[in-house]
Amino acid sequence: MKHRLAVFASGNGSNAENIAKYFREKPNISVCLILTNNPNAGVLTRANQLNIETQVFNRTDLNEGRVLKILEQHEITFVVLAGFLLKIPEHLVKAYNNKIVNIHPALLPKYGGKGMYGDKVHEAVVQSGDAESGITIHWVNENYDEGNIIFQATCAVSESDDANSLANKIHQLEYEHFPRVIEKLLS
Ligand code: GRF
Repeated sequence: MKHRLAVFASGNGSNAENIAKYFREKPNISVCLILTNNPNAGVLTRANQLNIETQVFNRTDLNEGRVLKILEQHEITFVVLAGFLLKIPEHLVKAYNNKIVNIHPALLPKYGGKGMYGDKVHEAVVQSGDAESGITIHWVNENYDEGNIIFQATCAVSESDDANSLANKIHQLEYEHFPRVIEKLLS
């Protein structure tokens, strides 16, 4: 079976790019579409450079079924959220049941939920004094960061780390593991 992936991202999109590049070398999986709710997102430039079709939508498009229609029109079989900040509505979770994964830049269930994204997560981890952080790849349900956990990897948080240096460590873990975990899920 040929897997046609869509990646949702709201910002920079380095994970989206990394995943798209990884699957360019693989025969049965490809990133066919990159979607964003942010018309200024860096991910759009990255997608253009990779020659991947993009779609920009707003919250209403997402909640009223227009995004689902776009996914169906592109025959998307699997959805990856990589730095995507809006909540996935119930109808979309149902239509892609166990076919939507998200990455969270901390070790859920800690540091998850509404408002916990990007640097806010890393700032909270650094402030807590936790000795480790990491990444969590999980299935998506109707609640932020609450779907079943598929995979976690950890990194040390040292006393000299700030949110920025921790974000760099987390990104390295994400680049290394996220495409491989997706590949495994689809094989
Ligand atoms: C990643 O750390 C991801 O886990 C989080 O937001 C960040 C997105 O980075 N949800 P990028 O846009 O892929 O560079």
